[in-house]
Amino acid sequence: MTMIPAFPMESRFLRACARRKVDTVPVWFMRQAGRYLPGYRALRAKHSILEIAKTPELACEATLEPIRKFPLDAAIIFADILLPLEAMGLRVRFSPAPEIDRPIRGPSDLKRLASRPEADSLFFVGEAIRLVRRELDGKVPLIGFAGAPFTLASYMIEGGPSRDFLRTKALMRESPGAWRSLLDRIVRVTLSYLRMQKASGAQAIQLFDSWAGALSPEDYRRHILPATKRLFSGLKGLGAPLIYFGSGASGFLEDFARAGSDVVGVDWRIDIAEAFRRLPGKAVQGNLDPALLLAPAPVLKKAARQILRQASGRRGFVFNLGHGILPQTPPDNVRRLAEWVHQYGGGRRK
Ligand code: CP3
Repeated sequence: MTMIPAFPMESRFLRACARRKVDTVPVWFMRQAGRYLPGYRALRAKHSILEIAKTPELACEATLEPIRKFPLDAAIIFADILLPLEAMGLRVRFSPAPEIDRPIRGPSDLKRLASRPEADSLFFVGEAIRLVRRELDGKVPLIGFAGAPFTLASYMIEGGPSRDFLRTKALMRESPGAWRSLLDRIVRVTLSYLRMQKASGAQAIQLFDSWAGALSPEDYRRHILPATKRLFSGLKGLGAPLIYFGSGASGFLEDFARAGSDVVGVDWRIDIAEAFRRLPGKAVQGNLDPALLLAPAPVLKKAARQILRQASGRRGFVFNLGHGILPQTPPDNVRRLAEWVHQYGGGRRK
């Protein structure tokens, strides 16, 4: 009997997402298109990050630079998790840390948000995806992405990066009606945005929950999980593997996985072997500390091999970092790391 593959494309990365056999471990890096690359820095000397994201030719160039330079198994579309905030009626600036004008501080501020947020205004991301797919010509698959509900809500409420998330936690715990209504709007616009990305050619979808680690397990279960579940269930059946990355979420990894993704992305605060044990039935992505990309080559190599050893013999492993590449990263280390993953990840047929 022939099995119908869950995800049709025969790439190493998509096969690993579907927990199928691969010749060697696939690798890509979060924030692989960014300031550590000379081409991106030259682009940024002439254009703002929003100009790059909103001009498909420039976004395509930024997306492809790491693919041209390094043996990576997936591309990720150049965009930012904060773009949908504009579709919801907020103004976002990058300097380069994001700043949101007039953030949501209480229930009455919700009235300022677009009543029926639609992702149509983000059409430029779809155009960039179509352009990148044409240029890639099947070489490697293209990942689309969005921010997860908690991480996006925290930016909308705090107005920028935050250490303690005090305003977010206050709204979440003290105004449950407003909190639910905010998450509901985020889920609706994100669903329409990600469906548009898929329809434009994205072959996998990653949700970034970069600040999930600010939450207790109980807060995650009670205030976040229902929204994240709704989001993933609305994306199921699109034919693209769903990846859910969380930073600092290993204290509630099982609940995090219940959100419903196919692949769970973990950071370096947990061993990959333990992540596999705690995530039966899931593919796992991660989890090298990005600071190690600044280390001397032998230190980096040892750390990468340690992760590969822990994952060896497991189906469904995608090598990545535990968070995004840092701007100080030497590009040569990125190349070396990708080569080592392929070299040492293929030891045993998986
Ligand atoms: O991965 C890629 O290469 C694709 C592009 C991408 C960007 N942002 C472009 C960008 C992706 C996947 C993101 C996701 C993103 N954006 C996240 C989740 C991942 C993570 O690192 O946690 C978050 C939290 C943001 C919000 C954001 N955008 C911040 C906090 C900043 C400023 C500081 C920083 O982290 O770089 C940005 C700006 C931004 N988005 C840059 C890039 C390349 C750097 C700004 C610049 O070019 O000057």
